[in-house]
Amino acid sequence: MGFPTTRLRRLRSSIGMRNMVRETVLTVNDFIMPIFVTHGTNIKEPISSMPGVYHFSLDRLNDEVDEIVQLGIPAVLLFGVPATKDAIGSSSFDTNGIVQEATRHIKSRHPHLLVIADTCLCQFTDHGHCGLIHVHEKNGHQIGEIDNDASLAYLVKAAVSQAEAGADIIAPSNMMDGFVHAIRTGLDEAGFTNIPIMSYAVKYASSFYGPFREAVSSTPQFGDRKTYQMDPANVREALREAEADVLEGADMLMVKPALSYMDIIRLLKDQFDLPVVAYNVSGEYSMIKAAALQGWIDERAVTLEMLTSMKRAGADIIITYSAKDAARWLAE
Ligand code: PBG
Repeated sequence: MGFPTTRLRRLRSSIGMRNMVRETVLTVNDFIMPIFVTHGTNIKEPISSMPGVYHFSLDRLNDEVDEIVQLGIPAVLLFGVPATKDAIGSSSFDTNGIVQEATRHIKSRHPHLLVIADTCLCQFTDHGHCGLIHVHEKNGHQIGEIDNDASLAYLVKAAVSQAEAGADIIAPSNMMDGFVHAIRTGLDEAGFTNIPIMSYAVKYASSFYGPFREAVSSTPQFGDRKTYQMDPANVREALREAEADVLEGADMLMVKPALSYMDIIRLLKDQFDLPVVAYNVSGEYSMIKAAALQGWIDERAVTLEMLTSMKRAGADIIITYSAKDAARWLAE
């Protein structure tokens, strides 16, 4: 033939051979496990749209965090389900707010488990938006618009109170313009110069958040989030979002959701030298669970394949509701 025949299959011939040449390895150190915390006692309430995920009151949280630590998962991401909501999301920056209480609780039990606090107002506002709303009249109609700059001060208060409670990382998910700069400045002024910001830099206005919004009842009461979250059709805009966050002082860049946005994960990995975080969101999790419950797919194989793909795309860290399952499977 004049040239050597290609034998790509030579390097796939045995388990040992495949293990030796594997390019992407998923480990438990890659995972962050989200936890939903709520006020009250003796609550471990299943979230119906997310089988295997619960709301926990603090007195029922110990078993969950003990298991997470025992599995070797390095971090949890806290979402609060507050008792009361109002126009400015006051319970998001209350010293005795649910996220602050849960942070203190977890850190006193497991000082080495990293606690990441989600910084957003949407779970805490009665209108369900991620920032403050400015209501005004336009053509005889009352309309509500996000007040970007007024929201920043409240997000800073939330971030600082989370850091005061002992959070190790602040993860702002609100998508207001300038939030990284505002929060960095606020944390520094309060003495938290060493607390990193994991920025939800590229967050799409996605339908994959459906089960999560049901879980924390944060569906907007009017309008949608399209004026602050990104259009799923855009990729160059993701670069502008990420670049702004890098300049403002972000320490890690998140892409959310993950599955439909693998190209964005790769882009950020190639363009910036910060760790890239992929958020494997609620809808992605629930689709696998639903199909697995029907017996249509192999849950373990599909989950590990998806998580490996996110890493291959460039994610250094993956936030996933499957963290505990995946940690168990990887250890087998
Ligand atoms: C709050 C927030 C959302 C998610 C994480 N933080 C919902 C949203 O923006 O509507 C979604 C997480 C998931 O779907 O798993 N801003």
